[in-house]
Amino acid sequence: MKPISIFYGSTSGNTRKIAENIKANLEPGLVKIFDVKYAKIEDIEMYENIILGTSTWGEGILQADFEKFLINILVKANLKGKKIAIFGTGDSSLYPKSFADSMGIIFEALEGKGVIFVGEFPTDGYQFISSLSMFGDKFVGLPLDDNSDEEQNKLRMSIWTELLKSSLN
Ligand SMILES: Cc1cc2nc3c(=O)[nH]c(=O)nc-3n(C[C@H](O)[C@H](O)[C@H](O)COP(=O)(O)O)c2cc1C
Repeated sequence: MKPISIFYGSTSGNTRKIAENIKANLEPGLVKIFDVKYAKIEDIEMYENIILGTSTWGEGILQADFEKFLINILVKANLKGKKIAIFGTGDSSLYPKSFADSMGIIFEALEGKGVIFVGEFPTDGYQFISSLSMFGDKFVGLPLDDNSDEEQNKLRMSIWTELLKSSLN
């Protein structure tokens, strides 16, 4: 596998911890983590394999740092032909109508830019009413739910990272 970058936005630290766990589940020597607060356009354009992860705030709003990153960097970067996987944190019990919406917002912002999305995840077992991240019977990436127990999230993460190993460059 070629090097992988993980760009995360996190307000209270949940998504940052998950980014570290995803790195540990992949090949750690190949993975570099970037906090989007400090990321530059060159950081993202250097990689062929990119993982984007952030939480949802408000009711269906992108995490604040990630929103700035999306507007100022992500949509301006040349991402043609790059493999992109998305994960998102959220809470299906407190926010069942906007569960992990951030993933769908990122997906829509990058559609049409020639990227190759990987890492879709089945909605089976998740309890929510609606999500911008759901297309058909799948999520555009991996949602990790504050409302699921740790073992469940660990299992989902390990299934997802195994999938990425076979779908990234
Ligand atoms: C004020 C507030 C609004 C939130 N809104 C949503 C939401 O609309 N959808 C969702 O799935 N989760 C929502 N959440 C849950 C967070 O996304 C979740 O706690 C996440 O793990 C936080 O990650 P972070 O610490 O990396 O920012 C909200 C949490 C708070 C405190």
